[in-house]
Amino acid sequence: MEEVLIVEDVPVDNTSPSNGIITIWTINRPNKLNALNSQVHDEIKKQCVRVESDDNIRVVIIRGASPLPALEGKRKKPSAFAAGADISEFEGKNSDDVRPFFEDNAWEAVWNLSKPTIAMVDGFALGGGTELALSCDIRFASKGTHFGQPEINLGLIPGGGGTQRLCRLLGYGKAMEIVLSGNMIDAEEAQKIGLVNKVVESEELEDITISFAINLAQKSPYTIKVAKRAVRASLDLPFSEGLLVERSEFVALFDTEDKEIGVQAFLGKSDPKWLGK
Ligand code: COA
Repeated sequence: MEEVLIVEDVPVDNTSPSNGIITIWTINRPNKLNALNSQVHDEIKKQCVRVESDDNIRVVIIRGASPLPALEGKRKKPSAFAAGADISEFEGKNSDDVRPFFEDNAWEAVWNLSKPTIAMVDGFALGGGTELALSCDIRFASKGTHFGQPEINLGLIPGGGGTQRLCRLLGYGKAMEIVLSGNMIDAEEAQKIGLVNKVVESEELEDITISFAINLAQKSPYTIKVAKRAVRASLDLPFSEGLLVERSEFVALFDTEDKEIGVQAFLGKSDPKWLGK
């Protein structure tokens, strides 16, 4: 059976995996526009556990598989990151059936990763697909991409964190527009409102995303986690408390070896060789 999530671990250089690995996850259901069925969810959750337990993994990239060639007499399916949760799994289900799944879900597992995550979005990212991209720290998209939360058209609302993460990222008005209307927005609009960090040609997307990931993977893995934690604190805490968290994290970094390594490397005009502590 085809793997629904293809995982490739790409070393940053060929000398040693301890110099960093970028793990690239490809949701592989192109004939269903990479819709997130329960199997994909389970695989994503499993991979999240692996990422946390492997110090060599520095960055996660999530993408959707490209469309397969068209069958004779049929049109080629469109490109997708993920066109949402698999709607066929919703049929006939009641709240007791779906609650356990949503209480321990893949969007949250990705969100809770301590390492940087990048959504590489080439094509439709709808419903749970937009939410998966929102669970990542950074989103790069191709020009033909469309985002949206069309759950309203199914008599539903986003259930993978979309209402909350859209509001935090875009503000109340835009989040409301997207959730209430179910309308799609194109990549250019998504960039204008801050939903994506960068929009590039489809052919350039992979190279640009991977070079960005390599850049992150070459920082101190310890400091990167602290930086992510400090920025995240701003989502949960009042401003003045967030500043206290930042100060405490910043000051604590002065007791790490990597701070001394970074400073010495700058002063000595050399590349830092991080110890990750
Ligand atoms: N769940 C299950 N299957 C899905 C799916 C989803 N979320 N999104 C697409 N598919 C399937 C279609 O059923 C179709 O399968 P088939 O070829 O076996 O019939 C295949 O993927 C291709 O999709 P199709 O609708 O034919 O492509 P299109 O180019 O006409 O339209 C979309 C593309 C994205 C506009 C359309 O697929 C769509 O609206 N998808 C649902 C989006 C959604 O509501 N997501 C939120 C879910 S909570």
